[in-house]
Amino acid sequence: MTTLHDSAFLKAARGETVPHTPVWFMRQAGRSLPEYLKLREGIAMLDSCADPELIVEITLQPVRRYGVDAAIFFSDIVLPLKAVGVDLDIVPGVGPVVANPVRTLADVDAIPDLTADQIPYITAAVQGLVGELAGINGGTPLIGFAGAPFTVASYLVEGGPSKEHAKTKALMFGAPEVWDALMRKISGISAAFLETQVAAGASAVQLFDSWAGALTPGDYVRHVQPHSARVLEQVGKLGVPRIHFGVGTTNLLDLMGEAGADVVGVDWRTPLDRAIPMVGDRAVQGNLDPTLVFAPTEVMTARAAEVIEAGRAARGHIFNLGHGVIPSTDPDQLARLTEFVQSYPLG
Ligand code: CP3
Repeated sequence: MTTLHDSAFLKAARGETVPHTPVWFMRQAGRSLPEYLKLREGIAMLDSCADPELIVEITLQPVRRYGVDAAIFFSDIVLPLKAVGVDLDIVPGVGPVVANPVRTLADVDAIPDLTADQIPYITAAVQGLVGELAGINGGTPLIGFAGAPFTVASYLVEGGPSKEHAKTKALMFGAPEVWDALMRKISGISAAFLETQVAAGASAVQLFDSWAGALTPGDYVRHVQPHSARVLEQVGKLGVPRIHFGVGTTNLLDLMGEAGADVVGVDWRTPLDRAIPMVGDRAVQGNLDPTLVFAPTEVMTARAAEVIEAGRAARGHIFNLGHGVIPSTDPDQLARLTEFVQSYPLG
C-alpha cells in the first residue's frame, strides 16, 4: 500500500523516482463538470467557498471522476480578501470585482491582516478533505493554494479583471511606497492563507501569479519577486513542496524558481525542453495547451506524449495543462487524458 508521502505527486515534486507521471488539472473542479454545476445552482461562488461541506464535495468531484494524482482545494484567490472584510464579489462570467479599488496608503492600511480564526471554514474543509482523500487511491495529496501578491494586487487596484494591468503598474512605477505597503499586506495575507491550509493537512501548495507575465524581468525582480519570495519562504518552513505558476512567463521562469519554488509551473507557450534549463535544479509542472482537449483524442494524446517525453529532462515532472480547464471542456476527454498520462511507460 502506498502512503501519501510516497504518492507519485509528492515524489515528483521532490524530484524522486515516480511509479508513473503524476497528473492533475488546474481548475479541475468547476464549470466543466455537470455535477459541479448542479451543486452550485442558486449558490453564489463566494458563499460556496465558505461552506466546508460544499468545499469538500466540489474538491472531491474531479478526484472521483478522473482519479487524478492530486486534489486542489476549492476556493478562490480573492477569498482571503473577502475574509478580512474587503468589499468584493465574484461576478459570474466576469471574475472578482472590488467595490473600492486600492489607490492610497490609507486604502492599504485599511485592509486588516488575516489570521486562521477568521477562516474556520477553511480549516474545517481541509481537515474533512484530508480524511476523505486518505482513502482514495492509496492516499491522494491535497494542494493548498493562494494568489501571489502581484496577481491579487491587480484585482485590488484595477477593481476587476484587466488585460493591461495599467492602473496596477502605474501604482508600481509612480508610488513605490504605496506599492511596497500593498505588496507587504497581500504577502502576509497569502502566507497566512497557505499556512492555515497546511496546518490543517494540505500536502503541498501552489502560489498562483497568473498575471506576472505582464512584467519585464527587471520590474519583476524589483517590484514583485521579493514579496512572492516572502510568501514562499514562510510556507517553506512548514516543509511542504511549493509550486509557483504564472501565465506568459517565458521570460520569468528562472526568476519564479529563484523566488523559492520547488516546482515551477509552465504555461503552454513555452515548450518544456526550453523551460527546463531555465528553472535549474527544480521540478516542472505542465504544460499541455488547454485547447488540445477539443482536438481528436489521438491528437491530444500524441501532444501529451511529447510533453511527458520533454519532462523527463527535469528534476521531476508533474503533468498538467498549461492553464486552467476551459469550462466547455468535455470531462470524458480529461478522463482519457488522465488515463493516458498515468499509463504512459516510464523511460
Ligand atoms: O483549480 C481548481 O480547481 C481550484 C479552484 C480555483 C478557483 N479559482 C475556483 C473558481 C482556483 C485555484 C482559483 C484561482 C484563481 N482565481 C486564479 C488563479 C488561477 C488562474 O486561473 O490563473 C485567478 C486569476 C482567479 C480569479 C478568478 N476567479 C477568475 C478569473 C474567475 C473566473 C471568472 C469567470 O466566471 O469566468 C474566478 C471565479 C472562479 N474561481 C470560478 C471557479 C470555479 C468560476 C465561478 C463559478 O463557478 O461560478
